[in-house]
Amino acid sequence: MQTISFYPESREFHLSNDRISYFINVMKNGQIGHLYFGKKIRERDSFAHFMQLKTCSHTSYLYDDDLTMSLDIARQEYPGYGTTDYRYPAFRIEQENGSSISNFIYQSHHIFSGKKKLEGLPAVYAEKDDECTTLEITLEDSLMQASLILSYTVFDRYDAVMRSVRFVNHGNQQLKLTNAQSMAVDLFDSDFEMLQLDGAWSRERHVHTRKLVSGIQSVDSMRGHSSAEHNPFIALKRPETTEFQGDAYGFALVYSGNFLAQVEVSRFEHARVLLGINPLEFAWTLNPGDSFQTPEAVLVFSDSGLNGMSQIFHSLFNERLVRGPWRGKDRPVLINNWEGTYFNFNDEKILSIAEKAKEFGVELFVLDDGWFGRRDDASSSLGDWYSDKNKLVDGVEGLSRKITSIGLKFGLWFEPEMVNRDSELFRAHPDWAIATPGRSMSHGRNQYCLDFSRDEVVDCIYEMMEKVLRNSDISYVKWDMNRDITEAYGAKLGSGRQGEFFHRYMLGVYRLYEKLITAFPDILFESCASGGARFDAGMLYYAPQAWASDDTDAVERLKIQYGSSMAYPVSSIGAHVSAVPNHQLNRITSLSTRANTAFFGAFGYELDPDKLSEEEKAEIKEQVAFFKKYRHVFQYGTFYRLISPFEHNGNTSWMAVSEDRKTAVFAYYKVLATPNPKANKVRLKGLDPEAVYVCSRAGEEYYGDELMNMGFLPDLEYTGSRVRNPAVKFKNSGTDIGDFTSQLYVLERK
Ligand code: DGJ
Repeated sequence: MQTISFYPESREFHLSNDRISYFINVMKNGQIGHLYFGKKIRERDSFAHFMQLKTCSHTSYLYDDDLTMSLDIARQEYPGYGTTDYRYPAFRIEQENGSSISNFIYQSHHIFSGKKKLEGLPAVYAEKDDECTTLEITLEDSLMQASLILSYTVFDRYDAVMRSVRFVNHGNQQLKLTNAQSMAVDLFDSDFEMLQLDGAWSRERHVHTRKLVSGIQSVDSMRGHSSAEHNPFIALKRPETTEFQGDAYGFALVYSGNFLAQVEVSRFEHARVLLGINPLEFAWTLNPGDSFQTPEAVLVFSDSGLNGMSQIFHSLFNERLVRGPWRGKDRPVLINNWEGTYFNFNDEKILSIAEKAKEFGVELFVLDDGWFGRRDDASSSLGDWYSDKNKLVDGVEGLSRKITSIGLKFGLWFEPEMVNRDSELFRAHPDWAIATPGRSMSHGRNQYCLDFSRDEVVDCIYEMMEKVLRNSDISYVKWDMNRDITEAYGAKLGSGRQGEFFHRYMLGVYRLYEKLITAFPDILFESCASGGARFDAGMLYYAPQAWASDDTDAVERLKIQYGSSMAYPVSSIGAHVSAVPNHQLNRITSLSTRANTAFFGAFGYELDPDKLSEEEKAEIKEQVAFFKKYRHVFQYGTFYRLISPFEHNGNTSWMAVSEDRKTAVFAYYKVLATPNPKANKVRLKGLDPEAVYVCSRAGEEYYGDELMNMGFLPDLEYTGSRVRNPAVKFKNSGTDIGDFTSQLYVLERK
């Protein structure tokens, strides 16, 4: 059961559930201190002794009579700069006299059941008031006449603390907020490794780990979206922490724009974690009466290693971030025409793809880029969201009905935030494209970003999209975003408010999502940004799944999906089987390996069925039938990473286990074959130790404890002759020999 208690004597707040504790206090100077975050510990009235303020040489003190009270030494919850603390602060407020010195002192607090919504922003939500408790602490700077409201929510079921901050100006002067992090926490020591998810287009969310060292280490985005380069998520793990053992802290920002995730190791080796909007280019004017709400940060703790941490994120995001009818629901098997046709299609081609896909058992057809305006390549028409009737005789409206009459659902691609110079929209509103007065406009893929900080722009795009969605038979939308923002400038913001641009842009994106979801609550949204450049917790609130990467190569996907799973649930990871040679790498992998990788995701195909052999078609039919049978286990089972592609020559293994532990799907991927190989053993996880499991490989039986301790032996690699296990029954199990191969087995409790 979650609780938040206030101890008036010690002025401490203790937040906990059955597994974690988070303790903070009102320090002597009235600011908020950090005592502890980690595994649940026994309650007592005070942990003040743990604060351990001390006298030290060469520091500055707050009080004449107290040579211990220095913010330089104190571990804090939401620190400012300039009053004895020299570390990077969580916020900065410029006042009319030019000073940014502040002193926010505890005024009051409020503990209540449930969790408030964050106006205009994505956030974890409570379904029932009694499932979580929230603490709001109001701090006041009397000189500035401003307050900070620090918000903390703790759930019964999830080992996480949700934090955000609200700034309120209730004085008479104008204030300028130039840094407003969503959270800060000063962990007691710095004996951690920082895990981050980085990459580039086509190789998103690769796992990198570095030991914390003195000073600042950070990842960020300044691209106007969360980016393929860095993800708004970091973890801190102990050096000895593994996938399944040891302490791991995860910090995820529920936000899709410019961000900063930073850890600073101080001279006393405290580790200050900051997470929030990137302060670079950020400045928010607070006129008298105004307030500013930061995005939300999710802080997770697990003592069961990185896998334990990921499982907390998975269930929290699946159950209390994803909303609407798609929450917890199996995702449709789709076919997307992008890699199959690119821009080159017409009704006939699309219907031919859809008909074949229907025979495979696919459930949803997605028409990608190229159906609108006069778009035959990437040079025109973004912004003209109406059907190109030269390509599609009855428009998408007619096509959608033809597809649904075949028995498939119909989905459609949009790139709402963009415009091409060659478009009716640009000709009518050239000033809607983001541009800095007097400067040239840089383009990306021939396109420009629309100024989504302006309501009239968002409303106009909404009206166009609404019309298409209303007049067609559409159950899925893929929302793409294919460039970084440059020459950022809000034409309507005025000279004093340009620092608000990036955040207002994001608020515009969220507003459009919200309007569409409200009008079309049953549509399944998939977010996308040149693949996985906006794959973050903010997006999941609106779009329950995200296209993980334009890289559809099965081997590259192992790294991308493995990395994504650090914070994001399998149900959210868009994963497709595409043609070979692969369009991004020219690599050839077998159809079964491609499917065995994509099964662990929001599964689908992205190829031209007309180019498949009869044998391949038959295999795809089998794959779809197999996937449907175990779809819920793949997408919502407890996910275990068993072998990391970043550590073992690329070889990878993972598995998912149903909630009742009756069914497990296990996969082993061999990237490069080894001559005269050793036998591999993989220790499985999450099974019922007492139960007998029957394996789909050859119907052999194992005890759960045997598989989890002694291990499971996948098929031997190729050893110079094509001799292999003759008992193999299922195509997806060990049919391949050589490089880029895989084995996938189902274990059913007897
Ligand atoms: C980038 C996306 O990631 C692709 O899947 C595809 O939709 C293209 N854009 C279309 O332009």
